[in-house]
Amino acid sequence: MFPSLQSNDAMLFCIHSEINEYYLLLRISSLGSCVFVFTPPSREVFCCNNMQYAKNITESIGSTPLIKLNKLVEGIVATVLVKLEYVNPGGSIKDRMALNAINDAEKSGRLKKGNTIIECTGSGNTGIGLAMIAAVRGYKTIFTMPDKNSAEKINLLKAYGAQVVICPTAVAPEDPRSYYKVAEKLAQETPHSFFVQQYSNPSNPNAHYLSTGPEIWEQTEGSIDYFVAGMGTGGTISGTGKYLKEQKKEVKTIGVDPIGSLYYDYYHTKKTVDAAKTYLIEGIGEDFIPGTINFSYIDDVVRVTDKEAYQMARRLAREEGILVGSSSAAAVVGALHVAKRLSEDTIMVVLLPDSGRNYLSKIFNDEWMKEKNLL
Ligand SMILES: Cc1ncc(COP(=O)(O)O)c(C=O)c1O
Repeated sequence: MFPSLQSNDAMLFCIHSEINEYYLLLRISSLGSCVFVFTPPSREVFCCNNMQYAKNITESIGSTPLIKLNKLVEGIVATVLVKLEYVNPGGSIKDRMALNAINDAEKSGRLKKGNTIIECTGSGNTGIGLAMIAAVRGYKTIFTMPDKNSAEKINLLKAYGAQVVICPTAVAPEDPRSYYKVAEKLAQETPHSFFVQQYSNPSNPNAHYLSTGPEIWEQTEGSIDYFVAGMGTGGTISGTGKYLKEQKKEVKTIGVDPIGSLYYDYYHTKKTVDAAKTYLIEGIGEDFIPGTINFSYIDDVVRVTDKEAYQMARRLAREEGILVGSSSAAAVVGALHVAKRLSEDTIMVVLLPDSGRNYLSKIFNDEWMKEKNLL
């Protein structure tokens, strides 16, 4: 009987041992392709045919890892797994949505080679995903952003060749100076432009229905009980939640909201009670209810403070070696709060949208943290 080995994405079957000290293996990938490989006993596999590479950067979007939290879960008996979306090539979960939106627009004929992609990108990540794909496919890009974003994020967009228009954060969404309205105006004025409109475009939640949800389902072998995510456009939680609930209706989805955003109050009272206030967490929370959030796939909404989220981001880096942004840390704060009352056999997946590298001058800068009263 020959041994079989499990690698990250494939099954390896040893079909002949020790030919000149090398093993001949049959490698069957998760996508079904078969290749013969020779490997030395160290298991450093090299392929004798069928080189393994992506045709371009867009093919490497998705298939992000799921990691167990070990130190931050003291006193919690449930298994808490985090899904690391910063591993996407553009550095965030938004690569998935950008790819699906561009693919859909190309298929429907709304986007053609040489056109300009326009979008309002609250945290910059949507812009980065769009700009990365636009670079490969030959589109120009213009993005509007609120001025609370870090300099790193603005420069990242420019690095991919995008034009960036910075707008004030502290104005109402319907104010003509807001980043939503400025993008709208640019879309009207720019010939041959495609306005992505991530706040109303069904390609946004669908991206997660088609990729994030199935990945989590497969990675947990269907044993997921809780899915926890922050809510910006709501695309992630709605699309992933829909897929997971279709597989197993008992799966509970928990939305995490920063204090100052409208979602928590809206979810619990069905009213947009108060004018939204500003907060520091980047990427989640809203000051209006977008068309891309579907509350029927959300079982509860919990809220977190800026201080809790920023301190958790530091702990994730120092105690778990996981360097993420404030929206990821906020999701972990909310998740741990819920996980405290869960039993040992419960599996929780928490979605971490982006990397802490985007926030070195904020979260990981003591001066900035002190100035904002977050330490
Ligand atoms: C850092 C970060 N976290 C969370 C989110 C929220 O994801 P969604 O818009 O799918 O709700 C975003 C969205 O842009 C983000 O950039």
